[in-house]
Amino acid sequence: MTRGPVVTLDGPAGSGKSSTARAVAEALGFLHLDSGALYRALTYALLESGVAPDRWPELSEEALRALDVRAIQSGGEVCVEVGGRAVDEELRTPDVTEHVARLAGLPAARRALIDLQRSVGERGNLVADGRDMGTVVFPDAEVKVFLVADLEERARRRLRETGTPEPSRETLSDQMGKLGARDRQDSERAVAPLREPEGAQRIDTTTLDFAEQVAVVVDLVRRLTPS
Ligand code: CDP
Repeated sequence: MTRGPVVTLDGPAGSGKSSTARAVAEALGFLHLDSGALYRALTYALLESGVAPDRWPELSEEALRALDVRAIQSGGEVCVEVGGRAVDEELRTPDVTEHVARLAGLPAARRALIDLQRSVGERGNLVADGRDMGTVVFPDAEVKVFLVADLEERARRRLRETGTPEPSRETLSDQMGKLGARDRQDSERAVAPLREPEGAQRIDTTTLDFAEQVAVVVDLVRRLTPS
């Protein structure tokens, strides 16, 4: 069976991957997979289950699968569920954000989530964003994008998103420290580290506004996947 195109967007935290991927998917009529939400859902489920984070490395793939994280397709959306309940805001709490990169570095966690991600992409017509979409999960994707932006700009965006449009110097540098630490954890880990996929189109979004960055990716997809 021939499938539709798969578009991957990888990049560091705050580069605008998820919001760009969602808007690009909408413009093209494709599904959007936010793979970070699955890692966040597994982190949320573990925090809820009360297993101490320093014991997470001992958990097997089966134990992690038993936490019942699912990606449910309904209409054009992919909804994340934990134990049959839709989760969304729960995934963005500081507690989840603080622990997610630790979980994402565990091979068992990555194995527990890979089939879920691939099954969403089975029929193509998908925009998937994350850290290893073009390198590990969808290595045959028709279009691979690597989004980058300066650390300071990424920190400003993250603060704007969370209600601090005019941060003090101290708040800004604190946020830069947090994003920088997560970048290092994501790039230096042994399994599926964040790196630019071979053959990817690198887009620096530092000086682009949101509409511009969406338009650049949509144009790229139209150019590379003539219908
Ligand atoms: O939105 P933000 O970039 O802050 O994070 P996210 O996309 O929600 O991903 C949260 C974390 O999940 C990342 O820092 C990675 O540690 C992990 N992740 C991953 O390892 N692989 C992916 N494909 C997606 C996310």
